[in-house]
Amino acid sequence: MADLNLLAPPPWDDYELLDSGNGAKLERFGQYTLVRPETQAIWSPNLSEREWQRADAVFEKVRGEDGAGIWQQRRQLPEQWLMHDDHLAFWARPTPFRHTGVFPEHRAHWAWMRRQLASRRAPRVLVLFGYTGLSSLEAARVGAQVVHVDASKPALRWAQDNQEASGLTDKPVRWLIDDAMKFVAREIRRGHSYDLILMDPPIFGRGPNGELWRLTEQLPGLVRECVSLLSESPLGMLISAYATNISALTMQNVLTEAMAHYQGTTSAGELVLRESASGRLLPAAIYACWSSGAAPHQEQHPAV
Ligand SMILES: C[S@@+](CC[C@H](N)C(=O)[O-])C[C@H]1O[C@@H](n2cnc3c(N)ncnc32)[C@H](O)[C@@H]1O
Repeated sequence: MADLNLLAPPPWDDYELLDSGNGAKLERFGQYTLVRPETQAIWSPNLSEREWQRADAVFEKVRGEDGAGIWQQRRQLPEQWLMHDDHLAFWARPTPFRHTGVFPEHRAHWAWMRRQLASRRAPRVLVLFGYTGLSSLEAARVGAQVVHVDASKPALRWAQDNQEASGLTDKPVRWLIDDAMKFVAREIRRGHSYDLILMDPPIFGRGPNGELWRLTEQLPGLVRECVSLLSESPLGMLISAYATNISALTMQNVLTEAMAHYQGTTSAGELVLRESASGRLLPAAIYACWSSGAAPHQEQHPAV
């Protein structure tokens, strides 16, 4: 029987979770510290109020506006600023929906992804709900041919800016504005296939023509369709999601069922961020992963 894992991203100079508590998190993105709402953080902060007061900006929700809000800037933030990890460079921006264009917890998957991709020459990778493109760029950087799909034109432009900032414009990434479900159905009809598929669906979303996406209703169907898109000997399928009421185990069961006819291993759990001062772990997302071969995605940077 499988156990659920806790995975943390490897240490990173340009990002730090400083503290969390009282329904908020205090983070550093590059040289700027931000306070954002965090529903999981129902405990007390470890750092003093003075430390929290030093944040450059605080996101405050505006009532009844679908999660939208405003950034109260204590020091003027630039419109965007460049961040780096070991290999990529990308833009952070304070958006009206509290996101910054960077999900630091996703880096917990990259070592697994690189290892899977390393076993094949020019593997084909599909990234659904790809947002600002960091996972797509990491896959392209290590030699994959990537198709990146997202419904949002601004997110896609942002991803292309990140490609340029990372010096990866010569890498084969197809940036597509499309509805994830429709795109997958079309790719099946075209007879296309992929060696590895990543998806990071929101709980609720809309395609470019208003197509409705509801995770709990549509995820099993999308995963089954994605299985029809896999190549003859696929390398992996990875699903992550944030703020959903389904369990990582539920997600794993969906993936295990869909991949029943393939030789491989499924694993699942939570992506977590470690507070730099106290070591306390903040749950950031859930994931489920199918890996070709016997080694599941769990041994990279376990959080405990
Ligand atoms: C940011 S990711 C989700 C990240 C994180 N898991 C969360 O829920 O906050 C969501 C991305 O999916 C895209 N998206 C939403 N609905 C979509 C759809 N129907 N087809 C394709 N992309 C969609 C959004 O444009 C966005 O870039």
